Formats: sequence, C-alpha cells, structure tokens
Amino acid sequence: MMYPPWTSVGEAAKLLKAGEVVAIPTETVYGLAGNAFEPKALAKIFAAKERPTFDPLIVHIADIATLADVAKDIPDSAYKLAEAYWPGPMTLILPKKDCIPDLCTSGLQSVAVRFPSHPVAQAIIKESGLPLAAPSANLFKHVSPTTAQHVADQLASRIAGIVDGGPCTVGVESSIVSLTGEIPTVLRPGAITPEMVKKVLGRVAIKESTSKPGEAMQAPGQCDTHYRPQVPLYFGQVPEGFALPPHTVRIAFGNTEGPIPETVNLSKTGDMLEATAKLYAFMHDLDKPENELILVDPIPNEGVGMAINDRLKRASIKQLPK
Ligand code: TXA
Ligand code: MG
Repeated sequence: MMYPPWTSVGEAAKLLKAGEVVAIPTETVYGLAGNAFEPKALAKIFAAKERPTFDPLIVHIADIATLADVAKDIPDSAYKLAEAYWPGPMTLILPKKDCIPDLCTSGLQSVAVRFPSHPVAQAIIKESGLPLAAPSANLFKHVSPTTAQHVADQLASRIAGIVDGGPCTVGVESSIVSLTGEIPTVLRPGAITPEMVKKVLGRVAIKESTSKPGEAMQAPGQCDTHYRPQVPLYFGQVPEGFALPPHTVRIAFGNTEGPIPETVNLSKTGDMLEATAKLYAFMHDLDKPENELILVDPIPNEGVGMAINDRLKRASIKQLPK
C-alpha cells in the first residue's frame, strides 16, 4: 500500500463497508471513521489511536432521521437543537439504542451523535450507508488534526485511507451538549456556545472541567493532558522580565509586539473564528524539536473563545520552566 494512503470518497465508503478505518474531513477536525455498528471496526479505531477504551466515540450521521437509528427516547429538545444547529459543530448526548456496541460508548448507556456540515463527510456517510463512529484522527492526547497532512504525519501507516477535504474551517472539536439530565448541559465547549443552546431551549448548564492533574478522571474524555504538543506550551501572560529559553516561539492574538522574533498571529484583527480555525495548525507547525517553548497569548474567554481557552488550558504546562 502507498503511504500516505490518499483515498477518494467512493473508495472510502467501500473500505468502511468492509470494516476498515478511514480518516475523513469534517468542519471541526479530521475524524478517524469506522462502522459504528461493528465492534471490530471500533477496535481498529482505538488501536490506531492508542486510545484507551474508557474514552467513548462520537457517532456521525448525515440526516436528522438517522438519529432514531442510534438513539432512543429522544426528547423534543434534541430535535429543536438539531433543527437549529445541524448540520454543524454540535454533538448531542442521548440514551443509546442496543444496536450501538458498548465499545462505542465505553459501556455508557448514552451515545454521542453529530451531523457534520462538511460536504465530503456527508458524502462518505451517505455512500457508506452507515453511521460512522469517529474520534479526532490523532494519537491519544495529541493535538487534533485540522489538515489531511496532520493525519498523515501521525497515523498514515496505521489506517486504510485518508480523504483530503482541505483545511477544517471551524478548527476546534464540536460542542458536546448532554440531553440526558434535567437541564441541557454543555460538557465540552465549541463553536456552538452555551448562549446559542440557551436561545433554543431556554436554559443551559455548563459542566466545569472535572479533571485535575494527579486525580482520576471523573468522566470519560476529560483528561487534563489532552491536546498537548511535544514541545512544552505555556498559555497565559509571562511575568515581566522572565528569562525565556533562547528558542521560544509565540502564538499571538492580534498584537504581535514583543521581543520574540518567531511570532505567528492567530488573527490580525482579533477575529475569534479566524483564530480558532488557525490554532491547531500553528500548534502542529511549531511542535518541532528545535523549539524549547511555545508561548500562547491570553485569549478572551467568551463565545468560541471558551473552547480555545478550554483546549489551551489542557495543552499548557502549569508553570514556566525555571
Ligand atoms: O468535532 C468533533 O467532535 C470531532 C469530529 C471528528 O467530529 N470528534 C471528536 O471526537 O472530537 P473525540 O473522540 O476526540 O471526542 C469524543 C468525546 C469523548 O472524549 C467524550 O468526552 C465525549 O466525546 N463523549 C462521547 N460519548 C459520550 C457519552 N456517551 N457521554 C459523555 N461524553 C461522551
Ligand atoms: Mg480527540
């Protein structure tokens, strides 16, 4: 086989029907897809990513009608949110149907479902005729891929195919909204903000990130060390006069003034959506052995900025190196 295994939509659908795993583009990040009904395909996803099986997968569908094939006891609130924000960067947690294997949900009685807006993702789901389980197509705990090349760099030799759908336009993983409790609850911030959920359902809760360094995970997927590059990354203001290592690089937001020659800008105009779309690509680009430290400037913790802050806090070392 050729590496990287670049693949067409038609070929990807065939591979998926045959139980293989294929990386596919979505508007948020690239996903590593497999038949959500087939435990052997799910096992291949966990193996390729070196992901522990206690971290459940998101099931991708290509129309709202398919929701009832994978979830049961679906409340009206799910259809209201789906009408408002699907297809798009929003995942809903709902009670699972028996046809969804335990491996997909890590034994939980609920399932995560998303209808992506990327036309290539939709074409692959439709042509395969399957709901596709797909976590982000990166090695466990690494930075999520926002280009097909990012996927090839991490996973090329481990998977059956990669479909190139261009750079992801959203650039950060979907918002996860649980509808299994009394109050709709945002479990992971993303481009669909809590305010947007509240606008449709009238109320919303936000689950604070539960994992703390050195403590056991209280819920799947909330590892504090997710999203870390190999090079230490520090998110936040650096104290005045602090002696930085010589090979420090910086990711700025708006204002690039300062002493670090290698500085990239998330958005010249301070546009949060542009910044979100560029963040992971910068993290991938700067994650080179010659760099000693990646600094990321503070970013306002509002709207989609909450998603950036959430990911960067997890990516960040807790203290600057002495
Ligand atoms: O944007 C996205 O959501 C991307 C693209 C590929 O669609 N996918 C993605 O998948 O980010 P992944 O595997 O990196 O994140 C899945 C997370 C889990 O770590 C967990 O936090 C949450 O979704 N999750 C999945 N099933 C769940 C469930 N039943 N209850 C609560 N959380 C769940
Ligand atoms: Mg992930």
